[in-house]
Amino acid sequence: MKLFLDTANLKELQAGIDLGLVDGVTTNPTYIAKEGREIHEQIRAICDIVDGDISAEVVATKASEMITEGRSLARIHPNVVVKCPLTRDGIKATKALSGEGIRVNVTLCFTATQALLAAKVGAYIISPFIGRLDDIATDGMEIIRDIVKIYNNYGYPTKVLAASMRGPLHVRDAALAGAHIATMPFKVLDMLFNHPLTDKGLAAFLADYQKVFQEATVG
Ligand code: E4P
Repeated sequence: MKLFLDTANLKELQAGIDLGLVDGVTTNPTYIAKEGREIHEQIRAICDIVDGDISAEVVATKASEMITEGRSLARIHPNVVVKCPLTRDGIKATKALSGEGIRVNVTLCFTATQALLAAKVGAYIISPFIGRLDDIATDGMEIIRDIVKIYNNYGYPTKVLAASMRGPLHVRDAALAGAHIATMPFKVLDMLFNHPLTDKGLAAFLADYQKVFQEATVG
């Protein structure tokens, strides 16, 4: 399973890179706005430090404008994946951009049937939003399981990217469901390390070791 960071923040990305765990990045207009830098510049800066797929989202809402914007984003770097929303225009733009060999991540997916539409027009990635479904008391993970099954049934090559991840259980369940990619904020990636028995076990090992070898050195 590939692990992506869901952020446009260079410090968070560098922290993930230092752990050796960043296979790619997803951004969205909210994350780009938070960094306060024009999208082309920010995506270029991300491409300079991350070697993997970098999703950059269009802000146009009409298909023709999404296509123009998507082409321009794709020219930033070969690793850029253009993100289009799962609207009628977004699906039209995805078909056109995919036809030109530009890889598209179809975002804001909330049902398995929406995901079917994205696969049919040649999307490279589909992004179902797990956390936002859970927020409205709907089982987000069920969508991941359904999409994986449907894509397998028909051999669609579109990759399933579990998005809007809120904690380690989302990551575990997306992996069990067979999602190809999980994207998460740095804080969720960091949480994957944590277990009190790991900390307790390490402290006991080191204490036992030091008891014998430090005393031997001191003596
Ligand atoms: C996906 O690519 C989106 O950027 C993201 O996962 C949205 O997550 P949120 O629901 O935490 O905003």
